[in-house]
Amino acid sequence: MALPFATAIVPAAGLGTRFLPATKAVPKELFPVIDTPGIELVAAEAAEAGASRLVIVISPGKDAVAEYFRPQPELEATLEERGKTELLGRVQRAANLIQVETAIQDQALGLGHAVGCAEPNLRPEEEAVAVLLPDDLVLPTGVLSRMARVRAERGGTVLCAFDIPRAEISAYGVFDVDDTDDPDVKRVNGMVEKPPADEAPSTFAAAGRYLLDRAIFDALKRITPGAGGELQLTDAIALLISEGHPVHVVVHRGGRHDLGNPAGFLRAAVDFALAHPEYGPDLRDWLRGRIADG
Ligand code: UTP
Repeated sequence: MALPFATAIVPAAGLGTRFLPATKAVPKELFPVIDTPGIELVAAEAAEAGASRLVIVISPGKDAVAEYFRPQPELEATLEERGKTELLGRVQRAANLIQVETAIQDQALGLGHAVGCAEPNLRPEEEAVAVLLPDDLVLPTGVLSRMARVRAERGGTVLCAFDIPRAEISAYGVFDVDDTDDPDVKRVNGMVEKPPADEAPSTFAAAGRYLLDRAIFDALKRITPGAGGELQLTDAIALLISEGHPVHVVVHRGGRHDLGNPAGFLRAAVDFALAHPEYGPDLRDWLRGRIADG
């Protein structure tokens, strides 16, 4: 069977305003969760799901994101000379994970526009493409492979959803769905952005993982700017649904971290650090004491 997808697009050309002033100089995708940038975590997830190419959409001047995936021969030689083998392995990991290319989005005209900028990178035979938002850590990994299985069975486009308590649902994009014979797979009729809890069509909230049929690129050319004057990926998906294109969600029963804002990023850092064999025990003791001090 042909691979469900070979290319994963990672849009990383946003302005990162919620992280200003740091993002004046450093793209937020390079902020380390302990010591590894979020973008390496999503690159590893894409590779694990079978992608062989990562197309990172960057804005002019954000080249440091692509640079991060290039080998660093001098640094690597120094680490080797000093016998720092374990660290050398971690330094080399990004360059060896997956083949990285970039596409340029000249202006931050929205997520949909960013995804469209990667179309020229696709090969003619690629019928579907994955999109991973680097801000959104979906844990444990593996949902993209389940999404690929759903596309193989049901065709079309497959998205990822979390089942959120209704009281918290108004912070999310919410799917209007019908059940299928699989409790974790729903057929999507539409989507509502940030509805009041009592008007939400379901408790299934959108997450930053997409397996898009190639038809999305044609739909992206036919939509007009939506919320915030940006070309929205969800508007292009809604257009496909209105034309009868099958769209399903896989409900992911796991955790997530939003690395795109300081509060979410701090939670992720603490969560990862508590699970870290070297830093976890000390941090746990310190946090207990710090919280007891009020
Ligand atoms: P976000 O809205 O979360 O990121 O977009 P942002 O725009 O960088 O952040 P704020 O809101 O200003 O703080 C989700 C993802 O889509 C990318 C972003 O880089 C992020 O990974 N994106 C967004 C683009 O690549 N281009 C755009 O025009 C907009």
